[in-house]
Amino acid sequence: MSTYTIDTATSRANPQPAPMKRLTVPAIRGRKNADGMTGEPIVMLTAYTMRMAQLLDPHCDVLLVGDSLGQVIYGLPSTVPVTLDMMCAHGAAVVRGSWHAVVAVDMPFGSYEESPEQAFRSASRILKETGAAAVKLEGGEAMAETVAFLTARGIPVIGHVGLTPQAVNALGGYRARGRDDAEAAKILADAKAVAEAGCFLLVLEGVMEEIANEATRRVACPTIGIGASAECDGQVLVTEDMLGLFERTPRFVKRYGDLAREIGDAAAAYAAEVRSRAFPTEDQIYRPKN
Ligand code: KIV
Repeated sequence: MSTYTIDTATSRANPQPAPMKRLTVPAIRGRKNADGMTGEPIVMLTAYTMRMAQLLDPHCDVLLVGDSLGQVIYGLPSTVPVTLDMMCAHGAAVVRGSWHAVVAVDMPFGSYEESPEQAFRSASRILKETGAAAVKLEGGEAMAETVAFLTARGIPVIGHVGLTPQAVNALGGYRARGRDDAEAAKILADAKAVAEAGCFLLVLEGVMEEIANEATRRVACPTIGIGASAECDGQVLVTEDMLGLFERTPRFVKRYGDLAREIGDAAAAYAAEVRSRAFPTEDQIYRPKN
């Protein structure tokens, strides 16, 4: 049974804010018109859990269940060890916590590269078990046939080119891509290949600004930048980076919050009150009514 059909969580009994009609893949794709113009930029953030999805959903067009959950949630060294089971569990949680945004789930490393058929099996499992509307996969020209295979069979696909973290072992690290002409040409060829194969959005990660601008002009679908360019048709960040949950802030991240400090302060205040027996007070304990 699909977990997303269970709709009895108390968190959904009185959703705040009130449910909105969920956006659709064609509506998101249609943000960029036939002349290549995008009116309102597309807002995308990562989400891995039900509660975070609830908080982000009213503000976002797309919630991405990124395989970055490997590092952010599980403390893994990269996205390489992330499994299909993990993506399905977190994808279902995010769908349960959202009413408005399109939810897209990353296909983890090893679940799609072998063949279009393998990709179809993995992507259809993700859509069935999570209720998400789309999948994202990394890679350019080598993945074009797979993108075409999935889209022709009713699976909306988000492409992802430039710095592709699942290829960290081949790339040798996470440095921005496209610093020389050959790399730049390859990124543009990759972008064109997966866009023409049918992806409805294209993530451009960690690329020189000029390349992101050129790719955005050349491809028909909207581009979503992360460490790319303000001229992309939308932007995505890892939510925990944007909220300031980690001490290290990569160059392409802007911090909109300081949650690490707030959580540390709250935990320290709680610990001090437990140790001094200042918590709990009579407000937090049960006594028989007289
Ligand atoms: O896994 C992820 O979070 C991503 C985004 C950063 C684009 O792929």
